[in-house]
Amino acid sequence: MHRALLRHTLILAVVSIASSVSAFWTENDNNTNNQPQQWSSYFQQRQAGACGTGEPSPALRDAHKRLSSTEYRQVVVGDGDSSSNASSRPPVDSLPRIQVDTWFHVVSTSDQADLVTNAMIADQFVYLQQAYANTSIHYTLRGVDRSINDTWARNGDALAMKRTLRRGSYSALNIYFQTNLEMSDPSGVNSRNAMNHNRNAVTKFPRDQEPHYSSSSASSSAPNLLGFCTLPNPQINSSSTLDDYISDGCNILAATMPGGSITHYNRGGTAVHEVGHWHGLLHTFQDETCAPGDEGDYIPDTPQQSTPTDGCPAPGTKDSCPDLPGLDAISNFMDYSSDDCYQNFTYDQAMRMRSMWSAMREGK
Ligand SMILES: *[C@@H]1O[C@H](CO)[C@@H](O)[C@H](O)[C@H]1NC(C)=O
Ligand SMILES: *[C@@H]1O[C@H](CO)[C@@H](O)[C@H](O)[C@H]1NC(C)=O
Ligand SMILES: *[C@@H]1O[C@H](CO)[C@@H](O)[C@H](O)[C@H]1NC(C)=O
Ligand SMILES: *[C@@H]1O[C@H](CO)[C@@H](O)[C@H](O)[C@H]1NC(C)=O
Ligand SMILES: *[C@@H]1O[C@H](CO)[C@@H](O)[C@H](O)[C@H]1NC(C)=O
Ligand SMILES: *[C@@H]1O[C@H](CO)[C@@H](O)[C@H](O)[C@H]1NC(C)=O
Repeated sequence: MHRALLRHTLILAVVSIASSVSAFWTENDNNTNNQPQQWSSYFQQRQAGACGTGEPSPALRDAHKRLSSTEYRQVVVGDGDSSSNASSRPPVDSLPRIQVDTWFHVVSTSDQADLVTNAMIADQFVYLQQAYANTSIHYTLRGVDRSINDTWARNGDALAMKRTLRRGSYSALNIYFQTNLEMSDPSGVNSRNAMNHNRNAVTKFPRDQEPHYSSSSASSSAPNLLGFCTLPNPQINSSSTLDDYISDGCNILAATMPGGSITHYNRGGTAVHEVGHWHGLLHTFQDETCAPGDEGDYIPDTPQQSTPTDGCPAPGTKDSCPDLPGLDAISNFMDYSSDDCYQNFTYDQAMRMRSMWSAMREGK
């Protein structure tokens, strides 16, 4: 399993950046067929308090509620059937194609300029296409560019990077594959926007790499950051300018691409998961509770789930809300399962991504 990722070894240094304290970690993994030299130079940085910022804004929560009721009407219109009768719903892949202009930006340190091969880029794009094929959301790869910049490769000066690399309008998907991804630098050129970006960002950590906050110390365990992405911003409209959404897009650790070095997280599933956030989806375990009445991810057909999934448990063995209907959707792209587990989106997730597209991004 992915336990190799757990073998963190403390610690080279603890430094202070701006007002936040960051811990540097390195990886002690002797798994020699997985480019250990990459891991040995791979430091993780976490700003205390900046992680775990996966919370959707109140406006996005409202959008989920509103769109959910719209979808319900679409489903019941015509025959007045209950929406729970799945056979009366149109197959999603028969719905009109949504075509998303897409740019891949590969950003490497000079040491790792050859890490991301053209084959990895092609395979990542194919996997993205296939994962969304049944939702009738399709991607057109408009361009791939490569940058070598040690600062940008760790997502330092993120706004400068995006000002240079970002293409297309708000409806365009920009994915930055970075060899040394860290959370955005809060001391960057525009810290207000950087903080807004963090607030809207949704992070994906494998369960065991979630940030563990120690009440007594800021230099507690640090995550392996696989990726994060901006959720749709309901405030963006057709007269918004590039400056209003410059931070929009997905930041992905390059080693998660197909053929990358992170065992069990190297089939490209991280990009699929993060793009799900770009389309507005929340985690299947959103709110992390079995509380009755909690709306979780606002998706009716994902069972309520109180814990993220770690690795890839055997089918039928994980049920974090045993008193509520349904097992945990461990094969769902919006859980934290390893790539081996990832299979699909549900019908309602597909419909929500489509209605989010119409409401949030199409024509903007
Ligand atoms: C290194 O590999 C050996 C043999 O596979 C294993 O027993 C050991 O636990 C590994 N050590 C680390 C730190 O991964
Ligand atoms: C579901 O819809 C199909 C087709 O409209 C119908 O044949 C079937 O009886 C319905 N099932 C239930 C449980 O309502
Ligand atoms: C690398 O990033 C820095 C920081 O944003 C920037 O000043 C510099 O121009 C970049 N270099 C290149 C070659 O783009
Ligand atoms: C459109 O968005 C911009 C910022 O993106 C905002 O300043 C403006 O008020 C919005 N206009 C409307 C009509 O909502
Ligand atoms: C898409 O749907 C087909 C037919 O229902 C199914 O065989 C396939 O596994 C689905 N693929 C994904 C990625 O969900
Ligand atoms: C997704 O895949 C899993 C595992 O193959 C399967 O049990 C589940 O029914 C699928 N769900 C959908 C919505 O296709």
